[in-house]
Amino acid sequence: MTVLAELTQRFADAFRSLDLDPAFGEVVESNRPDLGQFQCNGALPAARQAGNNPRDIAQSIIDQVDREGIADLSIAGPGFVNITLTDEALCQHVSQAAASDLGIESASDPKTVVVDYGGPNVAKAMHVGHLRATLIGDAIARIGRLIGHHIITDAHFGDWGTQMGMVICGLADRYPDLPYFDPDFTGPYPDDAPVTLEDLQEIYPKISAAAKTDPEVAEAARRATLELQEGRPGYRALWQHLVAVSMGSQRQDFHDLGVDFDLWYAESTVHDRVYPLVASLREQGVAVESEGALVVPVAEPNDTKDIPPLIMLKSDGAYLYTTTDVATVDLRVSDLHADVVLYVVDARQGLHFEQVFRAVRKAGIAPGTVSLEHIKFGTMNGPDGKPFRTRAGGVVSLRDLIAMVTDAAAERLEQADIAQGYPDDEKAEIARRVGLAALKFGELQNHRASDYVFDLDRFLSFDGKTGPYLQYGAVRIASIEREASEQGLATGDLQPATVDAERGLYLQILRFPSVVDRAWEFRAPNHIAEYAFELTQQFNRFYEACHILRESDPERQASWLRLVAVTRKVLVTALDLLGIEVPDRM
Ligand code: ARG
Repeated sequence: MTVLAELTQRFADAFRSLDLDPAFGEVVESNRPDLGQFQCNGALPAARQAGNNPRDIAQSIIDQVDREGIADLSIAGPGFVNITLTDEALCQHVSQAAASDLGIESASDPKTVVVDYGGPNVAKAMHVGHLRATLIGDAIARIGRLIGHHIITDAHFGDWGTQMGMVICGLADRYPDLPYFDPDFTGPYPDDAPVTLEDLQEIYPKISAAAKTDPEVAEAARRATLELQEGRPGYRALWQHLVAVSMGSQRQDFHDLGVDFDLWYAESTVHDRVYPLVASLREQGVAVESEGALVVPVAEPNDTKDIPPLIMLKSDGAYLYTTTDVATVDLRVSDLHADVVLYVVDARQGLHFEQVFRAVRKAGIAPGTVSLEHIKFGTMNGPDGKPFRTRAGGVVSLRDLIAMVTDAAAERLEQADIAQGYPDDEKAEIARRVGLAALKFGELQNHRASDYVFDLDRFLSFDGKTGPYLQYGAVRIASIEREASEQGLATGDLQPATVDAERGLYLQILRFPSVVDRAWEFRAPNHIAEYAFELTQQFNRFYEACHILRESDPERQASWLRLVAVTRKVLVTALDLLGIEVPDRM
């Protein structure tokens, strides 16, 4: 049991013995560490309920509560109870945590959670919007997994919408003689893709721009999309190539970022479900005709803004991104048995998800027990405060971004004279890890909903709140352990703290499980980032105050070495939750 859970239980008992609601017994970390290590604020609401003086209730609680392992209880302000443990009890809690997954307890009610993030599209280069989705989604998935939920990650590949019709038209324009465009061709179609991803990434922006100004192009793309969905053989064969070409390279890009998905389901995966679903919604009266289209009205009486109906089928019979998302909820609920679905997607798609969620509730596709959440994030901006772009004004591809941070990391390592003189391949691997750490921590230290400025120079700094600083911290801790073992020193049992900096480190280690819980509850990895930074600082304070290698008391020294090892384990675990890998040495 975590220290908070144990103290909460004791305080709950105390409230109960006074005939007060035990829920008032909740113990939390102190927000006034100068007054106590933990606090219980329940006397205030309890007093409101019972019509008593909160300080009197606080006093009665103090008189009642089981004091084992508690060094000090005091009342502060209007009735907060401050709690400070004895050094023996504190040490015992840390020893317990160290011996059992750092105090992380598996969720008592594990859920099946589908995390939908990444969301790359066929033929389009992935850009920084996808980067944010990927890093936040990956961290949330890692956090959920650590606390024992059954996590299923899905890239939800965009391979079925209007962009497919556009690419088909763009290709038909450029290579009209390919057999895919000949309606009389009877096959077989060629095995090799007619284009590379580079070609596609050139063709798509052109045709998409043309469709915006030329209604004929837009109309042709619309038709091609419909024909693809209806199964025109040449288009299907061409589409297979486009999917394979795009998916292969994007999977590799994600992998290079340290992100691998459990599922690469796509918008097209639900194609076979769409028409039966449409028919059943029509039958239920949930979907209705409107101006030739089939829509699900989703506005509600208390809406403060206009929520337009969700379009299931356009008047030409083609279906849309929204339709595939409705059908995908069905897949996730019926086939994957999801209890929770997290959509880690740009905040600008808020209306889209509002419509989808309302429609699937209305249609009974997702029962009320299934939680559907849009995990929104803001924009990553360039130094000019506008969405991040290349110098030429284009979107930055993920691949270029990875190369850019890796190169910059190599340069920074050289400037700082870190990891120089190592074999070239090791140096390259360190640069890769440091570059990615800069990128990931730069992202995840912010609350996801806020916009932030991509400032690689700052992200790569070895001092300050950065990924490389934390990696360096973890590596330094490892080198202390190495040096000790070279001197023949071993770790021993943890001893009660005697120095404030040591006490602070014990407390910080004990906080880890509640920080993980909070990060999960709010789907907010920035809590972990903040925690890792504080842990590193706390360690530095301890290391300055306690001269481990020069300590003359062997038991104390062995305890400190154990504390060093536990700290590293917590730090490495926290960084791993952010997708950050620590090099063996630097
Ligand atoms: N492919 C989409 C895009 O690039 C993101 C997909 C998000 N997930 C979803 N289920 N709609 O905007």
